[in-house]
Amino acid sequence: MGGDGDVVMWCSGDMIPGVVNVTAPAVWKTHIKEVLFSQEAISKRVAEMAAQISADYAGKEVICVGLLKGAFVFLSDICRQLSVPNVIDFLTVSSYGHSTTTSGSVKLKKDLDVDPRGKHIIIIEDLIDTGTTLAWIQKHLSSKDCASVKLCTLLDKKSRRTPSLNLKIDYVGFECPDEFVIGYGMDFNEHYRCLPFVGVLKPSVYAK
Ligand code: PRP
Repeated sequence: MGGDGDVVMWCSGDMIPGVVNVTAPAVWKTHIKEVLFSQEAISKRVAEMAAQISADYAGKEVICVGLLKGAFVFLSDICRQLSVPNVIDFLTVSSYGHSTTTSGSVKLKKDLDVDPRGKHIIIIEDLIDTGTTLAWIQKHLSSKDCASVKLCTLLDKKSRRTPSLNLKIDYVGFECPDEFVIGYGMDFNEHYRCLPFVGVLKPSVYAK
């Protein structure tokens, strides 16, 4: 499921409203209920966020830490628009596995390559849901004597947050409804990450 079918260009007026000129496997078209954030809307918002970060860190160097795998598209787009010196690194943790809901337990799979001591860190995320992952990462970095640690996410599922975590998010692209979202780095069973928009997956796909 999800990996077969011809590669075609989805065109304006095709089955999914808001999808214009997207190259993707044809079968995926039938898996998407709607487009939540179009390629154009994301592009505009990412440029605004990059400008804000560049202004906030004027005169400083930042380390942009992307959380793999979901943040790889957002990180690559936003870092290429920063006007402050920056270093790119990645962390890999796992909490969801192949499930549609969080297991609540976070495991470190890959730590930072750079030494974050005395550095300004910006954690780059695709999506914050319960906040469990980010809270764990904040704790993980708290013993490393960073100059600062800020959180940046494209999507914030605010309604799903665990209140007791008291997570403060410094940069948010969009507030996201409580739907199963895919695309722009986000997946279901590792599929759909390359779609350039954020869409809602049909429940019939993940309920199988
Ligand atoms: C997603 C997302 C966040 C996390 C958010 O990652 O990228 O890292 O879940 O959930 P939380 O706020 O409830 O902790 P996922 O585990 O799906 O892995 P992926 O990035 O490899 O897709």
